[in-house]
Amino acid sequence: MNTIDTRTLPPDAEGIAAAAKVLARGGLVGFPTETVYGLGGDARNGRAVAQIFAAKGRPSFNPLIVHVPDIDAARRFAQFDDMALQLAAAFWPGALTLVLPLAMGHGLSPLVTADLGTVAIRVPAHPLAQQILRRFGGPVAAPSANLSGRISPTTAVHVLADLSGVIDAVVDGGGCPVGLESTIIGGIPPALLRPGGIAVEQIEAIIGPLAKRVDTITAPGQLASHYAPDASVRLNANRAHPGEVLLGFGPMESDLNLSVSGDLVEAAAHLFDHLHRLNALGQPIAAAPIPNTGLGRAINDRLTRAAAPR
Ligand code: TXA
Ligand code: MG
Repeated sequence: MNTIDTRTLPPDAEGIAAAAKVLARGGLVGFPTETVYGLGGDARNGRAVAQIFAAKGRPSFNPLIVHVPDIDAARRFAQFDDMALQLAAAFWPGALTLVLPLAMGHGLSPLVTADLGTVAIRVPAHPLAQQILRRFGGPVAAPSANLSGRISPTTAVHVLADLSGVIDAVVDGGGCPVGLESTIIGGIPPALLRPGGIAVEQIEAIIGPLAKRVDTITAPGQLASHYAPDASVRLNANRAHPGEVLLGFGPMESDLNLSVSGDLVEAAAHLFDHLHRLNALGQPIAAAPIPNTGLGRAINDRLTRAAAPR
């Protein structure tokens, strides 16, 4: 791919207008959401969507999430049943993605859905994401704005490290408050397809127990080593072996600590940034044990993938 000049856009009216313009002409723009930075392209424009896959080096069977500003827009692309409506009412805008049957006349590029007959749809809460979507006025396909198989980006600097020269622009909105991708719910009955920024317990409080996943859809970064840093990762480590750097949790000596106070929300917000920073040191990473409750499940999911043999 030819190298292009990637612009860094400011988080103001000018930056928002420029980002919407890039989308309207079929270009790619990195933008902040409350979870992670997305790599956005017009979801109706097959070329733009293909360029997303190319930019990420992503396996093309992996469908993308479509971002819209509100539920009314979402209903143009997906069919909502009662449970989907309840979840949307409870968690949108926010870190929840719903996989639903496509609506008639949706107009999305089949590349976005990998031709599945369903679409993953989300209404992000981040004010810049909201304003870009409204200004653009169409559905935006956006995977996380990193190279395939790399750590997800939670700052514009992370986005540029992977995609500078490959995408048109990135809107610099600072750090992402949640720091983990959205929780994905889909299927009939609804099942957890990917743990993420909204805890399963919160979802089950609205619609009752989720089903065990039975479908075989190639979903949620199912490639085992999807989140792999360059360095090897060793889990459940209480101290670093010689030569390792330690990713801590709770009160302990470590090179970087996800949350000294043992707060899982704070830990989630730090996870990718800390992995990026430890990865940059070029040494094997040892990761402290994380409780497997609430957001800890999503953190452990990401760490397990990072530690998978490859
Ligand atoms: O927080 C997030 O969800 C971020 C921000 C940018 O919104 N986006 C994100 O997208 O994580 P991505 O592409 O990295 O992950 C989307 C996941 C993939 O694992 C994909 O397989 C799954 O959603 N997915 C998309 N469409 C699907 C479908 N129709 N059925 C099942 N899984 C689907
Ligand atoms: Mg991703």
